[in-house]
Amino acid sequence: MANLTVKYLGLELKSPFLVSSCGLTRTMRGIRQCAAAGASAVVLESLFEEQIDSELGVGSAARASSEEIAIHPEAADYLNELGKTYAPHSYLELIQQARSELDIPVIASVNCVSARWWSDYARQIEAAGADALELNIALMPRQVDHEAAGLESRIYDIIKGVRDQVSLPITVKIGPYFTSLPRVIAGITAAGANGVVLFNRFYQLDIDPEAEELVGGYQFSSEHEIYLPLRWVSILAPQVNCDISASTGVHSGLAGAKMILAGANVVQVASVLYTRKVKHLTTMIEEFDAWMERRGYSTVAEARGHLMQSQTYNPEALERLQYIKALTGAG
Ligand SMILES: Cc1cc2nc3c(=O)[nH]c(=O)nc-3n(C[C@H](O)[C@H](O)[C@H](O)COP(=O)(O)O)c2cc1C
Repeated sequence: MANLTVKYLGLELKSPFLVSSCGLTRTMRGIRQCAAAGASAVVLESLFEEQIDSELGVGSAARASSEEIAIHPEAADYLNELGKTYAPHSYLELIQQARSELDIPVIASVNCVSARWWSDYARQIEAAGADALELNIALMPRQVDHEAAGLESRIYDIIKGVRDQVSLPITVKIGPYFTSLPRVIAGITAAGANGVVLFNRFYQLDIDPEAEELVGGYQFSSEHEIYLPLRWVSILAPQVNCDISASTGVHSGLAGAKMILAGANVVQVASVLYTRKVKHLTTMIEEFDAWMERRGYSTVAEARGHLMQSQTYNPEALERLQYIKALTGAG
């Protein structure tokens, strides 16, 4: 077996394959399964800011305004209920238990829309023993007066707010919808983050045309969704000053290999562990190991970044050429 160890957020991991934040990491039972299948770290399912708000009674003054989160009253009720069953204090207990029972790092995750509630809870996450904190920040522009710069500074403010409270490593999970991702990631790093997760796969909205209702879409990714994060990892890796964890569409060991060649430090996996069972993670790691051996790599560091889009050639022209070839059938 090749040496699969990697470093992510300063943590020593036994392989680049993490389980990403999802329902599998909500309970100790699920977390144990992930660890048994070979996960090198787990990112816990996100705690929603509103859950913290509802239990800790941060109070209406500190709540995100309706401008900050266009949340429906029913949704607020639901979150309050959720806050009661899956409360912030249980989240801290989960961190403590996972930390004491397992020998892999535990990364806490919070879905946040504002910086205000952090003063206390971020410190409690750190005190509970989390090895790192993933901030799941999904701010969607919905109105004509939502300017890009304003939304981006909110992201930076959230990160700064957390950085002021804790010294544990912070990674920021974002979506792909920015005018200039390189610039936003430079801002995220300057605000104090140690890593980025590219990308979150947002809740899919669908419409039931018979009932004429908005409904949730299919929640799992397909393996073809890898191309978007793959492109961005390869563009960003040579330019950013932080670690990169690739997420979305990583369904096989070879998909993990592509991400490492593109310049990712690690990959995160969720959907395929639902569609093919958690044990598929073991197969993925074995497949990655076999690829390393075939390609003659003895460490992941040797393979990492071989195919990132370097500034020394013109990747834009190359991509354009591939595009023209595909359109004209010459490729
Ligand atoms: C059932 C389910 C629940 C998820 N819950 C969360 C969550 O709580 N927080 C989060 O940041 N991402 C969540 N995600 C997104 C995943 O962490 C991941 O970023 C996304 O599914 C893309 O990766 P994949 O293609 O491997 O599934 C969830 C995904 C699934 C399928």
